[in-house]
Order: sequence, then C-alpha cells, then structure tokens
Amino acid sequence: MTTQANTDGIVYQLRDLSVNLRRRGQDRQILQSLNFEVRKRECLSIVGPSGTGKTTLLRALAGLIPVEGEITFQGQKLEGPAGDAVLVFQDYGNALLRWRTVKKNVALGIEGRIPREESRLRVDEALEIVGLQKYQDSYPWELSGGMQQRVQIARALAMKPQVLLFDEPFGSLDAMTREGLQDELLRVRSLHEATCVFITHDIDEAVYLGDRLMLLSGSPASLTYELDIPLTGTRSQISTKESAEFLRLRHQVYEQMRKAHGAAPTTE
Ligand SMILES: Nc1ncnc2c1ncn2[C@@H]1O[C@H](COP(=O)(O)OP(=O)(O)OP(=O)(O)O)[C@@H](O)[C@H]1O
Ligand SMILES: [Mg+2]
Repeated sequence: MTTQANTDGIVYQLRDLSVNLRRRGQDRQILQSLNFEVRKRECLSIVGPSGTGKTTLLRALAGLIPVEGEITFQGQKLEGPAGDAVLVFQDYGNALLRWRTVKKNVALGIEGRIPREESRLRVDEALEIVGLQKYQDSYPWELSGGMQQRVQIARALAMKPQVLLFDEPFGSLDAMTREGLQDELLRVRSLHEATCVFITHDIDEAVYLGDRLMLLSGSPASLTYELDIPLTGTRSQISTKESAEFLRLRHQVYEQMRKAHGAAPTTE
C-alpha cells in the first residue's frame, strides 16, 4: 500500500489549515483546522456570516498570507502566490485602474509576460466573452458597476488561470445585473473549464452557481457544513430557481446559515 494520496483531479488540498492574523499587536486566530479539497473544474461555493474569515480563506488559497498547516496547490506545497489562481474582488472600483482604458485594464495581468500579439488576442477574446468589445477604448469611470465588474472578470479570464477565486464579486450590484453576471459566469466556466471557488453571502447565488457548498462559521472559523449540489440540466434563473430540488437545497443551507448566525463572531 502506498502512503501517497491520489491527487488526480484535485486542485487544492488543505490539511489542518489555520490562520492567525495580527491586530493591535495581538495575534488572533481567524481560521482553525480546515481540511478540505477543491476538485478540478468544480465550482465550490463558500458561505458564512460576515467577519467569519471567508476573505482570509481566499487570500490563503491565493498564497498571499502565511498559514499554519498545509495547502497543496496542483500537487505542490503552496509557499507563495499561487501563480495559476486569480482573485476577483468585490470592490471592482479599486481593482481597476481609472487612467487605463478597458482593454488596457484587461491586459494588466498578462502584458510583458506573453508576446504582444497573443496578449492582444487574449484581451479581444476575454472582452468578447463578457460582451464588452464595444467599450474597449472607454475608461472604467465611463461604465456602469456591472460593466466594470465584467472588466475585472475579463482581466482574470485573459490570464487563462486554472483557478478563479471570487470574493463576493457581485455583492454590490443590483439583482438583475447580478443574475446576468451569474449566467455569464456559468457560460465562461463551461467554455474555459476553470475551477472556481466562489464566496458569497447570498444563499441563492451559492446554490445556483455551485457544484458543492461549504459553510464557514464560528470564531475561530471552521467548516461546519458541506453539501453537494446535484442540480441537473442547464441552470436557468427561472426554471432552476423554481425547481423543487433547488428550493430543497436552498432550504437546507438557509437552516444551517441561521444556526451559524447564532454563533457569528462579534465584530470589535
Ligand atoms: N489584515 C488583518 N489583520 C488582522 N485581522 C484581520 C485582517 N483582515 C481581517 N481580519 C479579521 O479577520 C476576521 C475575518 O475577516 P474576513 O475579512 O476574512 O471576513 P469575511 O468572512 O470575509 O467577512 P465579510 O463577509 O464581511 O467580507 C475579521 O474579524 C477581521 O477583523
Ligand atoms: Mg470578505
């Protein structure tokens, strides 16, 4: 028998992951003993009360903060920024450079790293996927919030990462824009076959987009609930969200979230 685990089809493997952050001169444990994996090409939704540590977990997966325990990324111990993973932030306003046009913002992660012609092609392709070709020479401040968020997503896509890490990317958008972007994300995933970790407060969004869902709660936070989301067929805002299966899954997550809110960390 071999002691080496079979990691085929596994993008991330977390073993006993804890994170301590220093604040006002004191270390505070934010995440405690997380053990889970992220499977290739899945969309893993992570929900949890505000202040629990969702962003902290995503930053750990991106290799941006020191951790205790171990994160294995694509079979290797993660010891610095995860090159093949791209973070998409909620705050698109700060993520975009206002003095750069849309196409130059989209090129930001690849320029100087790949030949110029390929960079141009990738930017064009990413802008086409998010439907912003017509706005390539506009500046971010000339666009609506939903369009700016699409620029940020296009920038991530142009980098052709294996993994997209989304931190509540649609949180500040109105319901219709948000639903449009959810469907765009599903389409992009089926085209690129990327693996996604998607953080959101919104239970409907987590169930609609996810293949699997995890709940992070407590202080320090740990994983307190996990659910497979076996929704069949192409997902649709109306028929999926009205289906008995969707409502059943949503109900289960809602119950768990209610319990977790009871145990939510107090914000200092
Ligand atoms: N750089 C930091 N130094 C010290 N403490 C931090 C730091 N960043 C976050 N924290 C603390 O860690 C805890 C978790 O923060 P985090 O931003 O990960 O929560 P979250 O679940 O993403 O919350 P929200 O849903 O509001 O975005 C909070 O109590 C926060 O105050
Ligand atoms: Mg957060």
